[in-house]
Amino acid sequence: MNVLVIGSGGREHTLVWKLKQSRKVDKIFCAPGNGGIAALARCVNIKVDNTKSLIEFAQRNKCDLTVVGPEQPLASGIVDEFHRRKLRIFGPDRKAARLESSKVFAKEFMKQHHIPTAPFCVFQTSAEAIGFCKSAEFPLVVKADGLAAGKGVIVAKNLKEATIAIEMMMTKKAFGRAGERVIIESFLRGQEVSIMAITDGKTILPLLPSQDHKQAFDGDRGPNTGGMGAYCPVDLVTPEIMEDIQQHILEPTIAGLKADEIGFVGVLYAGLMLTDFGPRVLEFNCRFGDPETQAVLPLLKSDLVDILMAAADRKLASAGKLEWRKGSSACVIMASRGYPANYKTGFPIAGLENVKDNNCFVFHAGTRRDNGKLLTAGGRVLAVVGLNNDLRGALDRAYNVIRKIRFEGAFFRKDIGFRVLQQKAEAKG
Ligand code: AMP
Ligand code: GLY
Repeated sequence: MNVLVIGSGGREHTLVWKLKQSRKVDKIFCAPGNGGIAALARCVNIKVDNTKSLIEFAQRNKCDLTVVGPEQPLASGIVDEFHRRKLRIFGPDRKAARLESSKVFAKEFMKQHHIPTAPFCVFQTSAEAIGFCKSAEFPLVVKADGLAAGKGVIVAKNLKEATIAIEMMMTKKAFGRAGERVIIESFLRGQEVSIMAITDGKTILPLLPSQDHKQAFDGDRGPNTGGMGAYCPVDLVTPEIMEDIQQHILEPTIAGLKADEIGFVGVLYAGLMLTDFGPRVLEFNCRFGDPETQAVLPLLKSDLVDILMAAADRKLASAGKLEWRKGSSACVIMASRGYPANYKTGFPIAGLENVKDNNCFVFHAGTRRDNGKLLTAGGRVLAVVGLNNDLRGALDRAYNVIRKIRFEGAFFRKDIGFRVLQQKAEAKG
């Protein structure tokens, strides 16, 4: 069979790598892909929002399955368009994708279906939002309703910070229409964990839990990014906590969608805070996480093609259980100096030929090939993943490989997994 993957990041490189391991796959295409994906798939120069050309390509190349990486095409309804042409695609339709594309929709949905999340209010004007903050307790969290590339959430420590955030979103319209409405919600304390589950709207197959590191710098300092590293599994999520998440979050979400007559095929990704009062949903995404996917998929033994095909055909119950490798995986992102703000690209990447560890993978995020030379082409450039018996070993592997790779302005976090490692050290005394 032929498979088309849509997107160009580290997540898509990992998806292509994993899907290609299936004996069932003959040809694999990626639109638009990147410098690393080109070694595994035929990259086709079609942008992720060019639905018409993607459909034509999938038809012409007899693609039996299309897998959508990023959220924007899902929010714009790429799945609805593929379905109209009777093309098989893995991902939620436009209606279902609102769980990610509108935080107001997601929060109201959670409230209606009793899914645990932070208490919140929705505001249509900056005056009302600021008025509310004047008598609120801090810290609190200000969120733009729509998609804002991971930048639409501000934790405000005081009224001044809240006012700046509200004005940036609602008056200065920093995120355009995404900031027409804002949510203000209570600040939750705890550790964050990402739970991605494959679903066809009936059966739910959770992947192993992972933990992202959103801030740019060590010690969780600096601005929020798309994610600077992740590890998997997360021991903090004990079997009891996982059961709690299944029963109180994943199942009610799928049941609520069904009750509201919203079919959901794809990845239901719950970003959770593990609070003293139990897990709470911070956000839903409706796609694979980046960089969580880079950490999670290398541990998956099962054939991903079977799972995604079964989900797309709404027969996920027949796919059986997921099989996992033992051990841990750690992913460290190498980024361009200046990311997540302004950064330069076009620098040569050296040293990849020295990576000879079979338990290490270098997934490309922002890279491109120019006359055979590999160059940086984005904020997040590479995702280096190490596997080992435990997290420390997996991290050591990833950092050993990073030392061999060079490009101008490269930076990475040196402390991925620090919270859990600290906890383990403290427990040992
Ligand atoms: P979101 O896109 O809603 O997941 O928010 C992005 C990040 O902001 C999360 O990963 C958290 O680190 C932080 N955040 C969001 N909501 C809250 C909250 N209610 N309490 C504390 N931190 C939050
Ligand atoms: N790593 C966070 C996300 O994929 O949204």
